[in-house]
Amino acid sequence: MNYSIAIDGPAGAGKSTIAKKIAKKMNYVYVDTGAMYRAMAVYFNRHGIHADNEKEIDSAVNDVDITIEYIDGEQQVFLNGENVTALLRTEETGKMASKTSKYASVRTKLVELQRKLATISNVVMDGRDIGTTVLPDAFCKIYLTASVEARTTRRYNELKQKSVICDFNEIKSDIEKRDYEDMNRKISPLKQAEDAILLDTSNMGIEEVVDRMITIIQSKKLEVDK
Ligand code: DC
Repeated sequence: MNYSIAIDGPAGAGKSTIAKKIAKKMNYVYVDTGAMYRAMAVYFNRHGIHADNEKEIDSAVNDVDITIEYIDGEQQVFLNGENVTALLRTEETGKMASKTSKYASVRTKLVELQRKLATISNVVMDGRDIGTTVLPDAFCKIYLTASVEARTTRRYNELKQKSVICDFNEIKSDIEKRDYEDMNRKISPLKQAEDAILLDTSNMGIEEVVDRMITIIQSKKLEVDK
């Protein structure tokens, strides 16, 4: 039997940074499910597919094959055989992923791939619906969140550091919009699973969050190994 850890939460809560560190410390495989929705979005953008046309999306999904490989321990996402990992973090791709992740055809395809990965290895999987839908039997579920202000400040500082011109209020409104879309879609909306532990990281540093999570995971593991 494999062990799965599910980490869900809103955009900018630090899920991927933290999940990656946890995976390394626990010697688990890190699975970034957002990257899969983003890879699908790259296909839609490249083919001029409209995010609001479900029929067009449904038909395009049939032409998309997403696969995952690990190179030097880093997840690589392949879109129809092409490594698109470097293209996933742009604003354009993020917006398309956010708009198209509400469709059943998109979710069904990617959830299948995510579940398959969890049967192969012990995984730390992060996303929006991992604890509620993808891996309901995960032995440890954590809902990682932070206030809109804290998430905006983190993103603002990150962009400033890269010398990107940005506006605090614009970032804040983007985060609020993304939260709304993720939490209010019909299929698998973002919400805390009943058996997930809530961790608000608004006033916590990364290492502090990682340490807290490792403690939670170890105690959960003792429970399941009993
Ligand atoms: O975590 P991220 O920003 O890379 O995710 C990109 C988009 O994909 C996000 O707007 C929500 C969606 N997503 C989802 O619906 N379900 C997941 N398990 C992961 C991401």
